[in-house]
Amino acid sequence: MSFNLLKGKRGIIFGALNDASIAWKVAERVVEEGAQIVLTNTAVACRMGTIDELAKKTNATIIPADATSIEDLTALFEKAQEAMGGKIDFVLHSCAMSVNMRKKRTYDDLDYSYLSKTLDISAISFHKMLQVAKKLDALNDNASVLALTYVASHRTFFGYNDMADAKSLLESIARSFGYIYGREKGVRINTISQSPTFTTAGSGIKGFDGLYDFSDRMSPLGNASADECADYCVVMFSDLTKKVTMQTLFHDGGFSSMGMSLRGMTQYNKSFIDENRDETGKIIYG
Ligand code: NAI
Repeated sequence: MSFNLLKGKRGIIFGALNDASIAWKVAERVVEEGAQIVLTNTAVACRMGTIDELAKKTNATIIPADATSIEDLTALFEKAQEAMGGKIDFVLHSCAMSVNMRKKRTYDDLDYSYLSKTLDISAISFHKMLQVAKKLDALNDNASVLALTYVASHRTFFGYNDMADAKSLLESIARSFGYIYGREKGVRINTISQSPTFTTAGSGIKGFDGLYDFSDRMSPLGNASADECADYCVVMFSDLTKKVTMQTLFHDGGFSSMGMSLRGMTQYNKSFIDENRDETGKIIYG
């Protein structure tokens, strides 16, 4: 159902790789609400993914950009304004990648050049896009900028590795830049802390199936889906949330306020295993 909440607005959506991507669902929803959009991803992702299909469906222009490159981001914000005929009203940052996770390096055995990459792609890119947008004066007054985060930024989750540090930094950038951009242009900057969601990035997390199930059992409303996340993004991009800024907004079915649920306890009681030992009794670390 459409409420025309974004009628006449122009947006840039980063990070739609395939139809499982959260950004993909957001792109579809914002267009349904009347927005015009530009889609962006790395040149490789644009070639390998199915972004063309999404562009057709949403009548969007695709402008490839590496979110860590100032040059690419500058060209993106300039071309996006040309393509849509004016300044930008909303931006979604939906980019993340950990080479340490991909290479199965545990948190106590990080490769620091990989860590720099994780932080650059998953967090500092958010600062870069905000700084580029501000220098070009590419955003309209009261524009709304969102990035997607995860609760592991606040509390430790097994297997989330260096991405937890990236998410903490991402949320901090939203606060620090939110102050400056809010003060000067009324621009709102927030992060949405989403439930575990089956996507390419999500499935790269160690033990993701278990994490998804645990989170679902712990949340009174159950896990929030990618479609529901897209609904929330629409509200945050709309004029109905003009005074919400610098927040980490939990969109997680209540997970972040829970300690233990009946469904969680019931499952836990089913087996008492020593999670620090494998089936032979040998101590394992992770
Ligand atoms: P996804 O794999 O569909 O999206 C990640 C995107 O990041 C891809 O499109 C990829 O091409 C892009 N990307 C990687 N390096 C880039 C670069 N240098 N420049 C520009 N783009 C780059 O997965 P998903 O889950 O939709 O991820 C979107 C965001 O949601 C990420 O920030 C992720 O951490 C966050 N998130 C995901 C959750 C999940 O369980 N899937 C839960 C909470 C947050």
